[in-house]
Amino acid sequence: MTHFHYKGGVLHAEDLPLDRLAEEIGTPFYLYSSGALESAYRDFGAALAAEGLDYRICYAVKANPHQAIVATFAALGAGADVVSLGELTRALAAGIPASRIVFAGVGKTAVEMAAALDAGILQFNVESLPEMETLDRIAGEKGVVAPVAIRVNPDVDARTHAKITTGKSENKFGIDLAHAGAAFARAAELPNLAPQGIAVHIGSQLTEIAPYEDAFAKIAALFAELRGQGIALERIDLGGGLGVTYRDETPPDPAVYAAAVKRSLGQLGVPLIFEPGRLLVAEAGILVTRVIYAKDGATRRFLVVDAAMNDLIRPTLYDAWHKIVPVAEPSGTVSPQTVDIVGPICETGDTFARDRALPPATSGDLLAICSTGAYGATMASTYNSRVPAPEVMVRGDAYEVIKPRIDYQALIGQDVIPGWL
Ligand code: LLP
Repeated sequence: MTHFHYKGGVLHAEDLPLDRLAEEIGTPFYLYSSGALESAYRDFGAALAAEGLDYRICYAVKANPHQAIVATFAALGAGADVVSLGELTRALAAGIPASRIVFAGVGKTAVEMAAALDAGILQFNVESLPEMETLDRIAGEKGVVAPVAIRVNPDVDARTHAKITTGKSENKFGIDLAHAGAAFARAAELPNLAPQGIAVHIGSQLTEIAPYEDAFAKIAALFAELRGQGIALERIDLGGGLGVTYRDETPPDPAVYAAAVKRSLGQLGVPLIFEPGRLLVAEAGILVTRVIYAKDGATRRFLVVDAAMNDLIRPTLYDAWHKIVPVAEPSGTVSPQTVDIVGPICETGDTFARDRALPPATSGDLLAICSTGAYGATMASTYNSRVPAPEVMVRGDAYEVIKPRIDYQALIGQDVIPGWL
């Protein structure tokens, strides 16, 4: 969190004090540090480059699809990993060239395939035979050949949260290794597909290197086997998944990860695609919220804040732990209180933290929920008819509201009441 620090007693994002921003913008709001985004991207690239890898970084847009974020990476030369026509539209609008876009996902529709073919993307990561047949048909109708990587399921346990593990045989993703050879042979037969690569992605928020090593070894073996069968592939897409430290996890450093890639796949002599999402954006973002009430319940003290599970679902959905810090720097002498930090939504699940030690806080105090740049705003909803939190990007001592707060008319204005009412 080097781009967030206390200065003069107030938490700053780069050179901007958060108390001032909170006054100007109103709470809750998401804030992203462009310096942090750029450093994360550069650090990851530098680790890959240090191993002499031939690589392309395709930012996983799902982690944070805001065009200002995507454009930040586009300016650094990134490609994009998209999983829907919406994400493809965003990536193109934010300046990512189609030639650097990979399209992943188990359920691409014919409409999405057609749009991606029209755009001229780098590759489709196909995940099943029926998908392959559909893509062949759509490409045939357009008189083009679709560049394809087949996503394989290596059946390795990523040892992450069950809801975000993707590389086990029981998961819906990819084609299992035993059938991968046949799938490539089928792709080679289909007239409108050009099999060009292998893709793999075993899960998100990985904190160990071993599952990667297992998967990479299996991919290297498959690549060699296919080559032996005369299917010469041009690249390998290794997906994303590298974890970040939310609490006390010690995920592999990008350098350790890059070295593992080099050891397993460096000798194959093909370019590698990486699809990091969380690693590039998580730590660049915070959610700033204000305490509405400090409430002493029968057995615990609650800080009721003005952000809620609709703004940040990760604690509710994955029991995720996010660091929460006061915007006013606590004095070194004050002893912490144990509190539950909860939102105003009418569900007990609307809890950001339980039994959290925090300097005494009261109504009106500002808190920052840290490392929320990834899978934060993008997973938000308007549950309880709450307007989406605005989003702000900071650069040095400048900021811009990149997503303004909408008013309640805009929120309810899309409801259509049937004529009979
Ligand atoms: N590539 C593919 C094919 C993916 O499915 C994903 C993430 C990524 C890349 C990027 O993974 P990352 O580098 O961000 O770990 N909402 C969950 C995370 C879901 C991840 C889904 N797929 C969370 O909040 O933890």
